[in-house]
Amino acid sequence: MVNVAILGFGTVGSGVAEVLTMNSALIEQRTGKAVRLKYILDVRDFPDSPYKDCFVKDFSVIESDPEVDVVVETIGGATVALDFTTRALKAGKSVVSSNKELVATHGYDLLQLAVEKGVSYLFEASVGGGIPVLRPLTNCLAGNELSEVRGILNGTTNYILTRMIRAGLSFEQALKEAQDNGYAERDPSADIEGHDACRKICILAALCFGRHIYPDQVPTQGITAITLADVDYANSCGYKIKLLGRALRMEGGKVCAYVAPHLVSSENPLAGVEDVFNAISATGNAVGDVMFYGRGAGKLPTASAVVGDIIDIAKDVTTRKRNEWAACDRSLFQSPEVLTFRWYVRAVGSMDAARAAFGEIMPLARGGAPAQEIAFLTESMTLAQLNEKLAALDVQSVIRVLA
Ligand code: NDP
Ligand code: HSE
Repeated sequence: MVNVAILGFGTVGSGVAEVLTMNSALIEQRTGKAVRLKYILDVRDFPDSPYKDCFVKDFSVIESDPEVDVVVETIGGATVALDFTTRALKAGKSVVSSNKELVATHGYDLLQLAVEKGVSYLFEASVGGGIPVLRPLTNCLAGNELSEVRGILNGTTNYILTRMIRAGLSFEQALKEAQDNGYAERDPSADIEGHDACRKICILAALCFGRHIYPDQVPTQGITAITLADVDYANSCGYKIKLLGRALRMEGGKVCAYVAPHLVSSENPLAGVEDVFNAISATGNAVGDVMFYGRGAGKLPTASAVVGDIIDIAKDVTTRKRNEWAACDRSLFQSPEVLTFRWYVRAVGSMDAARAAFGEIMPLARGGAPAQEIAFLTESMTLAQLNEKLAALDVQSVIRVLA
């Protein structure tokens, strides 16, 4: 028998309870033992829940119960969740988490603690929701030197962009839908300002390149400045606008990472990723390009990943599941300003002025554009080179084009 305690009975935590119950026979068959939900900790009361007998309010009940093997942390944030995770690991319990904020900010220390205590700290659900991606990257692709990992890492923003384009919803309406569906963070600015995608690219970079990267190192831009005018111009030249996180291995063992909206060619598989779906692609020196795709947020998809980690631990609770990386070295972070891109520019002005500043450009057009509005794609250049040329224009919008 393996005993599980869930901390935080919200969207993900309640989904974990549901999957453990719904698939209990299957889980027992696959692990060779019963996996029992023994405790649920939440600040709220759930008197009508089928799990009402499991609820406790005091974490020390879980911490001090030697029968508890696995603690599932689905509270979120990096305060209470850090305290409970630390205490659970110190008490010799394995921890499974969906909390990317905690992993991105304290992952190195928590993994060190797990090593010290001989227990596992697993967080498959922290990136890509239900998509199996962390384990394939670290296990199945372990024979590769990876040069890049990139992807659509946030379900809420991809859902918003899709609903704005497909159903003509306003940004606020689309965000409200994402919140109602349980996709958004408690503070949705983490989604729309790109911080959630930033935390996820930090985790992916640490696993792929072996060293902790903190979110404050990673230049991050969200989708709040994207307008339907930009979407129209992008469509006019065969592109979709997607919020991407990217991490690249650079010369000298350096790593470069950033989060920003991009124009993605309709021919690129990332362009077809819509709604709450996420996709993560990686490039390895043996495998070439691989892509992982699925639901990036939501109750049961995320619970699926959490329960996968529980099963991994339950198969043999005495063997620590390897999941580690080295401490951060800020001198090994390369600013993305060295990267070159073609750029999409929307401005108020004339094409003649744009050509005078940029030389060769690809002009874009859309129906119903106000007089004086221009848009174009530039040749490839760095951000610094772009900024120099933009000084001549009244710029409304600038977006990278993914090569
Ligand atoms: P929710 O807000 O739905 O759930 C969190 C739960 O924890 C709530 O019931 C909350 O209660 C409870 N809680 C808050 N503080 C405490 C506390 N001190 N002790 C016990 N319980 C507490 O969040 P989600 O389930 O959406 O997300 C949980 C984590 O999973 C987050 O880190 C999130 O980023 C991550 N995640 C979420 C996904 C999703 O699709 N929603 C997908 C992948 C990861 P109350 O509401 O009363 O505060
Ligand atoms: N808010 C996150 C998202 C949840 O929308 O992607 C999944 O990590």
